Amino acid sequence: MGLVKVDKLTPGAVLAEEVRDANARLLLSKGQALEDKHFRILKMWGVFEVHVQGEDAPTENRPEPIDGERLAVVAGEVGEIFGAVDISHPAVKEVVRLSIAHRMKHPQVQPRPALRPMAVPTAVSRREMLAKLDRLDVQLPEVPSLVYELNEIIADPMSSAGDVAQVVNKSPSLTATLLKIVNSAFFGFRSKIDSIPRAIMLIGSKELTSLALGITIMETFRTIPREVIDVASLLEHNLACGMVARIMAAHGNMIHTEQVFVSGMLHDIGRLVLCKYFPQNARYAFAAADQSGDSLLTIERNMLGCSHVQMGKRLLRKWKLPYALENSVAFHHQPSASPDPEMAAVLQMADMIVHGMGIGHSGENKVPCFDDRAWQRINIPVSAFQALVHQAAHQVGTFRDLMRRS
Ligand SMILES: [Fe+2]
Ligand SMILES: [Fe+2]
Repeated sequence: MGLVKVDKLTPGAVLAEEVRDANARLLLSKGQALEDKHFRILKMWGVFEVHVQGEDAPTENRPEPIDGERLAVVAGEVGEIFGAVDISHPAVKEVVRLSIAHRMKHPQVQPRPALRPMAVPTAVSRREMLAKLDRLDVQLPEVPSLVYELNEIIADPMSSAGDVAQVVNKSPSLTATLLKIVNSAFFGFRSKIDSIPRAIMLIGSKELTSLALGITIMETFRTIPREVIDVASLLEHNLACGMVARIMAAHGNMIHTEQVFVSGMLHDIGRLVLCKYFPQNARYAFAAADQSGDSLLTIERNMLGCSHVQMGKRLLRKWKLPYALENSVAFHHQPSASPDPEMAAVLQMADMIVHGMGIGHSGENKVPCFDDRAWQRINIPVSAFQALVHQAAHQVGTFRDLMRRS
């Protein structure tokens, strides 16, 4: 008998122990021969390892020799990333431990991407920024027609799977990206899904519409020049956060997991608004954060007078996106103040994990804050983080491939 990762199992393996979710609800009984549909059930409920009959303990659980010198370097890097939060908090401490372990095992974790040279102003006027902000609502683009149509579908309880497919199929690039995500390790289907109607049948029209909405909004900002920010890296960070948040939400038995996903995909979208409409101010903030060692969020608030959180909220409000989505973006760094603190707390933790693991880069060098009050409301034990980080690590390639195309 051995504990084996769900990703490594093949159909026909037999459970040596019953499988329960985080709330002790029975998912599968002892003696169950596993089929494809069971792998999906297990992932949906945040179970990544099961005891099966006749298997030896997986080799990756055996300790490997540690390179002490590299460990010191990696621990220093991770210490910097978590320098603004209380690392004695049990949840933070576990994320730090797992981040170090992940970086030791995956030396290819990328540093912050280098930007093309650009003259960075030595100071920006906060007053000028605030004056420009007043005019921002006029400058923000009108809601793209695809976003509008997807939003209508989400708002209409009578909308059908056919409506979703009709809208999505209008955009070949959206269709291609959606099929890539649905066929990725994240959803874990073993046979290839080659059409939107089939994807809807398997993951549901709500989930697919939310995914389409998140991708379309993210794509709107892809054209920001590399002198200002590496957009692909930020989108990779956002997508990873959405995926990790969704895994966590499933594990915590939360409802509306599709909403968690799209909230994660959009949580830092305000930084792209900042970079698009205030490129000089954005570069100034990046440089000031690098020099001062403060978090970028602190610099945005103190020196620019407006953070990426407020920018994101403004955009989503102008586009009349669901209030729940606007709120989760608006409160991802302050979840206990949110009308839905559980959702915002999951986003905050997913953001922290993605920062620690170094998946993509949002422009922020460190985890800016941690709101324990909201975290207390979440029913996800710290002991579940390890399986969660393993699952995210397995999907790193998906995030990168999807965001670094062309
Ligand atoms: Fe953020
Ligand atoms: Fe983030």
